Amino acid sequence: MRANEHPDDMKSDYTCEQHPENYTEQDHTMWRELFNRQSKLLVNRACDEYLKSLPALGVTAEGIPDFRRMSEILEKTTGWRIVTVPGLIPGSAFHAHLAKRQFPVTYWIRSREQIDYLAEPDIFHDLFGHVPMLMNPVFADYMQEFGKGGVKATSLKAIRFLDRLYWYTVEFGLIKTPDGLRIYGSGIVSSKTESIYCLEDARPHRLGFDLKRAMRTHYRYDKLQETYFVIENFEQLFEATRPDFAPIYEEVRNLGDVEPYLTLPGDKIFSRGTVADEKLGSQ
Ligand code: PHE
Ligand code: FE
Repeated sequence: MRANEHPDDMKSDYTCEQHPENYTEQDHTMWRELFNRQSKLLVNRACDEYLKSLPALGVTAEGIPDFRRMSEILEKTTGWRIVTVPGLIPGSAFHAHLAKRQFPVTYWIRSREQIDYLAEPDIFHDLFGHVPMLMNPVFADYMQEFGKGGVKATSLKAIRFLDRLYWYTVEFGLIKTPDGLRIYGSGIVSSKTESIYCLEDARPHRLGFDLKRAMRTHYRYDKLQETYFVIENFEQLFEATRPDFAPIYEEVRNLGDVEPYLTLPGDKIFSRGTVADEKLGSQ
């Protein structure tokens, strides 16, 4: 099953039906392979909040899950639901779903040639990557507030700052635990290369999470990250994003953008990556 831009049954909010009966044996095999590979790799790498949600949700190696069953479990736990979409949808529609505690999940799965990398989200990224974290009550509330914040950011012409916050937390966030750094970002947990690189490679910076710093930092969606932001716990994330962002966006606009290979005075450095020297040395 491949990407299908406009399924016949797509509604104006970009949702459609999953049609689980349409998955081929090949699709289910792809899922099993991805699932087995990542669930092995994520032991002692992903945070407990993520890992314990996989079995709780019934995300297993069996095959591509039926969204209806999963949505029921999710709804009972944190009041979130899964809605089906054909792929990336406009930001405003995405934020509107989050604000209603609905997480858009792409229904199609990558092909074999894309097993290690694809430039857009598929069902494995959305379901295996994002949905488990929505079982955590604090993270679940953070995501809803994020959705509501989207409308405001758009009217303040600050959507790029909010996008970066999403990128450096929801997609590529790390969390500090007594056993060391752990992954909670969905873009990492669904990627073999990045789940090893983000924790073990000397190249990237690992910095303590700072709201404005994250909002100022550029990202590349098609490369391994050069900077990761580490949160202390999910309450920290929720509290840091509670204030009105209107004055914060103004401040961030004045402070200016930061390249991800740099560190700044005032950064709380967990580990300084070799990327800075690499880039500066080659200029
Ligand atoms: N507090 C933000 C605002 O005023 C909303 C928000 C909450 C954004 C949580 C992101 C995450 O816009
Ligand atoms: Fe994602």
